[in-house]
Amino acid sequence: MYAIDLSGKNAVVFGVANHRSIAWAIAQALQQAGARMAVAYQNDRLRENAEKLVAPWQDAMLVECDVATDANVEAAFATLKEKMGRVDIVVHSIAFANREDLGGRFVNTPREGFRLALDVSAYSLIPIARAAAPLMAPSGGSIVTMTFQASERVFPGYNVMGTAKAALENEVRQLASDLGPENVRVNAISAGPVDTLSSRVISGYSVMKHAHADRAPMRRNITVEEVGKTGLYLCSDLSSGVTGEVIHVDTGYHIMGI
Ligand SMILES: NC(=O)c1ccc[n+]([C@@H]2O[C@H](COP(=O)([O-])OP(=O)(O)OC[C@H]3O[C@@H](n4cnc5c(N)ncnc54)[C@H](O)[C@@H]3O)[C@@H](O)[C@H]2O)c1
Repeated sequence: MYAIDLSGKNAVVFGVANHRSIAWAIAQALQQAGARMAVAYQNDRLRENAEKLVAPWQDAMLVECDVATDANVEAAFATLKEKMGRVDIVVHSIAFANREDLGGRFVNTPREGFRLALDVSAYSLIPIARAAAPLMAPSGGSIVTMTFQASERVFPGYNVMGTAKAALENEVRQLASDLGPENVRVNAISAGPVDTLSSRVISGYSVMKHAHADRAPMRRNITVEEVGKTGLYLCSDLSSGVTGEVIHVDTGYHIMGI
């Protein structure tokens, strides 16, 4: 009775760089549940990866979108509207900061590095939600973004990305409030460390990963499939009463005092 069936739903997932991307794990879960998929990749350099990944899927769609400008986001959603009609599900799994700002002392974060990290990693959710919401009318839809516990506590090395995630989580609440009357839900998944292109750039990442496995109640790291499954829950009707929430998929690490 409560099986997850997304057939008839259209989903777009932003942030697929390669097969390790969290976005790809969520995309696979949505596709397996029956959703018609669109995968958004950042630029030409990543197009081939995305093409290969979606090749086995019938009628999957690819769309290029560098979220650095609103015009790019608007153009991507115009293409989605033209090809899919409506959009029911949006996954935002995007972050970027200069490598030199993901290590060393946070106090040395330069103004431009701060601007860039916050722009790409946090601001981008706003134009995406703005463009997606009208395509979700009249029945509504679900928007999910990816965050990390560095929004709440200090993880040395995560630096300006912690600031970006704090902003992003605040946006989740404000967007949930704005879009709730239209039955558009907005939630975040706060994932534990997962080996991806982005995470490996963070200085101290392996220390962070070991600390999670040692101290988390479940005494292990998460798998990317576990993020995919929670993504599927948040995108489906099983979470119909849930919005403005940050769900931790971290084998419980965030509840520990030491
Ligand atoms: N890997 C982890 O340990 C972990 C933990 C918690 C949260 N997260 C978050 O998950 C999300 C996905 O990261 P990931 O770990 O899968 O790494 P990833 O490198 O696979 O994904 C990051 C994506 O962001 C995209 N991106 C960067 N700048 C962009 C731009 N200007 N326009 C469009 N796309 C852009 C990249 O192309 C890439 O697809 C990020 O928000 C990250 O902070 C990751």
